[in-house]
Amino acid sequence: MTTRPYVLLSAAMSIDGYLDDATDQRLVLSNDLDWDRVDEVRAGCDAILVGANTVRRDNPRLVIRSAARRERRVASGLPADPIKVVLSRSGDLDPAAAFFTTGEGEKLVHADIDTMLADLAARGVRRLMVEGGTGTHTSFLTRGLADELHLVVAPFFVGDAAAPRFVHDGRFPWDRDRRATLAEVRKIGNVVLHRYLLSEREVDRYWLEQAVELSRRCPPSDTAFAVGAVVVDAHGEEIARGYSRETDDRVHAEEAALARLDPADPRLATATIYSSLEPCSRRRSRPRTCTRLILDAGLPRVVFALREPPTFVDGEGAELLAAAGREVVERPDLAAGVREVNRSLLPA
Ligand SMILES: NC(=O)c1ccc[n+]([C@@H]2O[C@H](COP(=O)([O-])OP(=O)(O)OC[C@H]3O[C@@H](n4cnc5c(N)ncnc54)[C@H](OP(=O)(O)O)[C@@H]3O)[C@@H](O)[C@H]2O)c1
Ligand SMILES: [Zn+2]
Repeated sequence: MTTRPYVLLSAAMSIDGYLDDATDQRLVLSNDLDWDRVDEVRAGCDAILVGANTVRRDNPRLVIRSAARRERRVASGLPADPIKVVLSRSGDLDPAAAFFTTGEGEKLVHADIDTMLADLAARGVRRLMVEGGTGTHTSFLTRGLADELHLVVAPFFVGDAAAPRFVHDGRFPWDRDRRATLAEVRKIGNVVLHRYLLSEREVDRYWLEQAVELSRRCPPSDTAFAVGAVVVDAHGEEIARGYSRETDDRVHAEEAALARLDPADPRLATATIYSSLEPCSRRRSRPRTCTRLILDAGLPRVVFALREPPTFVDGEGAELLAAAGREVVERPDLAAGVREVNRSLLPA
């Protein structure tokens, strides 16, 4: 099976959560700076999707505006514009709509999200940008088919329940218990961009990158690796962090992080520990290894980027944790930073 494209949802709403007003005129929510940011995001995607009502009501062109970005795409062998996709069960679309008549990329009409994603994957689409409206965002979100959300809030109220909201009512995978991960907040003129990470894969990437960044603070050593660790609770909130040699010259990252938590803290039973390097399973400097500390703390989930290289000992932390029923996730795609931080200790 081919994996589905990375799905990035993008929307702009009023303070009271509306994507538009209830009039026939198009409501301007964003500003020029933010339009330029959206243009940059579009240029980094292989396809752009909207729902049929957005094509019928707003008649958007969905092309790359900046000449420099168009040239950059062409220079790297891509069409100047991404593929355009419209979701429509009815197929009631005007062939004269700007969606069909503008842009250099292909234009596709799809009646079903799963078939559409499979078709895009088969066409080599790796990144899909979804630009609304309400029904379309609701479909992707309630099915859990979104990796990232860019939500812009404009500083005014629409104040009319007849206007389209950001999403319809529904059951969303990100609720009070399992929250999205806020990766970034940016002020762009008078609007604010919120960048949320939604899929587990992207959330793991975010926290593991934080752990790798933390490992850059480790005091240098010829006898031990530089590691960073972050403990995140089930709500997606960081509860502790630590790095190698942070509190004394022998402490390990996971140990430093866990030492900041009360062993009776109920959040530990549902938390995840992110460690840039596989937790150690043999250790002379202390009686308990990090693998043992993680098992004793009751942490159910461990994510790391790089297996412990056999420079000092042969590690089997991942195997021991998995054998004890813990979920172990290895992300070799994020190991380059860990190797870079520890390059003097690794075989060439
Ligand atoms: N502020 C923003 O960022 C932004 C962006 C885009 C749009 N908007 C606003 O959003 C409003 C439109 O929202 P909307 O909910 O009416 O429209 P929409 O999401 O653009 O379109 C809904 C239509 O898309 C098709 N569709 C949706 N989900 C589908 C699925 N799972 N499978 C197959 N087809 C599906 C159906 O088309 P058929 O009816 O053809 O079957 C459905 O009626 C407009 O007012 C527009 O201005 C705002
Ligand atoms: Zn350790």
